[in-house]
Amino acid sequence: MKKIYLDQASTSFPKAPGTAEAVFHYLSQSAVNVNRGSYDAAYSVEEQIFDTREQLRRLFHFTSGKGKNVIFTGNITASLNILLKGILRPKDHVLVTSMEHNAVMRPLMQLKETGVTFDRIPCSPDGSLMLHEAENLIRPETRLLVCLHASNVCGTLMPVQEIGNFCRKHKILFLLDTAQTAGVLPIDMEALHIDALAFTGHKGLGGPQGIGGFLIRDNLAAETVPLLSGGTGSISHTEEVPGFLPDRFEPGTPNIPGILGLHAALTYLEKSSLEERFCHEMELTDYFLKGIQNLDPQGKRLRLIGRKTVRDRCAVVSLQTPGMDMARVAFELDTVYGIMTRVGLHCAPSAHKTIGTYPEGTIRFSFGPENTKEEVKAALQALAEITGIGIQEESTDGI
Ligand code: ALA
Repeated sequence: MKKIYLDQASTSFPKAPGTAEAVFHYLSQSAVNVNRGSYDAAYSVEEQIFDTREQLRRLFHFTSGKGKNVIFTGNITASLNILLKGILRPKDHVLVTSMEHNAVMRPLMQLKETGVTFDRIPCSPDGSLMLHEAENLIRPETRLLVCLHASNVCGTLMPVQEIGNFCRKHKILFLLDTAQTAGVLPIDMEALHIDALAFTGHKGLGGPQGIGGFLIRDNLAAETVPLLSGGTGSISHTEEVPGFLPDRFEPGTPNIPGILGLHAALTYLEKSSLEERFCHEMELTDYFLKGIQNLDPQGKRLRLIGRKTVRDRCAVVSLQTPGMDMARVAFELDTVYGIMTRVGLHCAPSAHKTIGTYPEGTIRFSFGPENTKEEVKAALQALAEITGIGIQEESTDGI
């Protein structure tokens, strides 16, 4: 059975061309450590790591920053933990949206124990942010606004330019979680007034798992307490944590295979058109959204969640199957039709409460640049058969 991968929001597949080869080449040809050995092989890997920082700085238009302002971590969850726990102090107040992932909410719940408080800016049932409500939530002690760029549950985009302007107006820090949008949409740190941006390497960027990071402005980095500390291969005569970047936030041997895989993925990304890739993903999303609505206009068996059109969204679509167990539907999609999806709460209970799908959750379909219209059509057909809608052959095209 041909497999159809529609779980791109979880991790992208296939990975960008050259990524697997770069990881294999490093592990099989040298696998030397960095910042420790005084030999050419180590210097050459250090150079590639530096290049990768520069690629990321360019990708996110961080023109006032330097390569050193790009910090590598294990994943975006680690990045968000390092930033939130390093920046926030007792009595600080934080604004989030009601659509956040647990990568933001769980650190904030932990910080609540230390006296940090937060408020959720409400979103409508399709996930759209009601930014005007933030004016009523802001307080003198509000220090930071942290939010995701796109919902990992239903794909709704946050109005990041308006959020950035709001933060600037109120002189609060803006931290952006780009888990679903890095490598998918253009992101300009300067224009959006972003103080720190967290990214992961294994989704839209097309790199391997286990590599992520963040970009941070110098002034904020200086006041951020490092969550981890240890050997950096630099200023080893002292037991103090280095004050300079990136060493301040990068103790221990880094994930070198991951960084080099990401380097290859970014090199591919730089040669391809972000706009073309996104347009393709949106065409697939449009086809899927229209297909579901044509199959079941009343939403009695296939109930679309979130935005019904491609406006202000990315290629992540959630639905429910009223009257049918969704885990069962996802299981059948996989075992009978070879279609891989994700079902449940997607680590975002607050988002599901907002869009009215808590606690049962949704089945999520997410598309990437390598998915095809035929694959989306196969998913629509499979959903029709499983839910007993029974479409006619001639009605499957242009659904
Ligand atoms: N946060 C990722 C997802 O939404 C893993 O599936």
